[in-house]
Amino acid sequence: MKALVTYFSLSGNTEKVARAIFEAIDVDKEIKAIQDVRSTDGYDILFIGFPVQAHSVPEAAQPIIRDLKAGQKVAFFSTHGSLRGGQLARQAFEDALGLAAKAKVLGHFGCRGKVDPRIIEMLLKKPEHKAWGEEAKGADSHPDAADLADAKAFALEMMARAKQ
Ligand SMILES: Cc1cc2nc3c(=O)[nH]c(=O)nc-3n(C[C@H](O)[C@H](O)[C@H](O)COP(=O)(O)O)c2cc1C
Repeated sequence: MKALVTYFSLSGNTEKVARAIFEAIDVDKEIKAIQDVRSTDGYDILFIGFPVQAHSVPEAAQPIIRDLKAGQKVAFFSTHGSLRGGQLARQAFEDALGLAAKAKVLGHFGCRGKVDPRIIEMLLKKPEHKAWGEEAKGADSHPDAADLADAKAFALEMMARAKQ
């Protein structure tokens, strides 16, 4: 069983979660920034992570998801400023599901990630971003130790599903 953990991360939050997932899994494994992945062939499971941006999957993370082959096993993870389990973060996961088309999506993990205060300030001024901008103020301490422990538990559950 060979696993690839790959992530796009602007300010390091999603990378922290990626590293927790990578630590938790006990198989032949690699971890790479998304821009360094040349091919997803030869992996039995892919963990693909991204920060939620504008309620969706950032452009930099889209090609690798779109290029997943039929039946390829993938688990998504994301960090976001908005509340965990909230509508805004769910929407991004649904977008990832849509992009993944024929891949076999095993599951998704999301937790909050600190948002740059300058970005919060800027986005609060725009009506279309106000909702998550308000929520994002509470994400300051994330991802925290509990988030990373949850990410590790998620990783193990995904590995168990991949083996089924
Ligand atoms: C341009 C931009 C847009 C964002 N849009 C959203 C959003 O729509 N919803 C949300 O919950 N968080 C949003 N965020 C917050 C990030 O998802 C969050 O801070 C994330 O943890 C950043 O992860 P990173 O450090 O891996 O880049 C946005 C951040 C940036 C920079």
